[in-house]
Amino acid sequence: MSILETIKSRRTIKKFKTDPVHSEKLMTWLEAAAMAPNHRMTEPWEVYFIGQETRAKLNHKTNFGNAPVLMAVLSKHGATALETEENALATACFVQNFNLAAWEEGVGTFWSSIAAAANKREILGVPEGYDVIGVFGVGYPEEISEPKPRTPMQNKLKELP
Ligand SMILES: Cc1cc2nc3c(=O)[nH]c(=O)nc-3n(C[C@H](O)[C@H](O)[C@H](O)COP(=O)(O)O)c2cc1C
Repeated sequence: MSILETIKSRRTIKKFKTDPVHSEKLMTWLEAAAMAPNHRMTEPWEVYFIGQETRAKLNHKTNFGNAPVLMAVLSKHGATALETEENALATACFVQNFNLAAWEEGVGTFWSSIAAAANKREILGVPEGYDVIGVFGVGYPEEISEPKPRTPMQNKLKELP
C-alpha cells in the first residue's frame, strides 16, 4: 500500500479476531512510532502492555472489542505547560505512526479514552506527571466499518493576506 492508501483505508476497529499479534511485529511498529517528531527530543511516550488481570479491572463495556493486545500509551509532562502540551502532541504523532504501520500489515487499533477517569489511571498504576493518551486494543479486524465521511478540506481553509 502507498502511504496515502494506508492513511485513507485505516479505520478504528471495534471487533477483533482472536489471532495473536506477534511481539516482534509490535516492536517493529513501536520502533516506527518512536520516529515521531518531538520537540527537544523529549521522547515523552511510554507504553504499558496490559495483562488479563488489569484488563478485567478496567471493565470496558466491549472488552476493547476482544482485542488480543491491549496497551496504554502515556505521555510524560514537561517542565512547563507548553512542554507538556508539546509532549502530548508528539505522543499523538507516535500513536498515529503506530496505527498506520500496523494497518499496513492488516492490524487495526481501537483508541479508547477510558483512562481519562482517575480510577482507571489508578488501575493502570500511572504515576503523577504523566497523561494517558489512550488505551489501545490492537489486533486483526473481525469487522472493518465503512469510512466515516469527513468535511471537505475546502471548507476548512482560510487564506491570510
Ligand atoms: C483522542 C481520541 C480518543 C478516542 N476515544 C475513543 C473512545 O473512547 N471510544 C471510541 O469508541 N472511539 C474513540 N476514538 C476513536 C474515534 O471515535 C474514531 O477515530 C472516529 O470515530 C473516526 O473513525 P475512524 O478512526 O474509523 O476514521 C478516539 C479517537 C481519538 C483520536
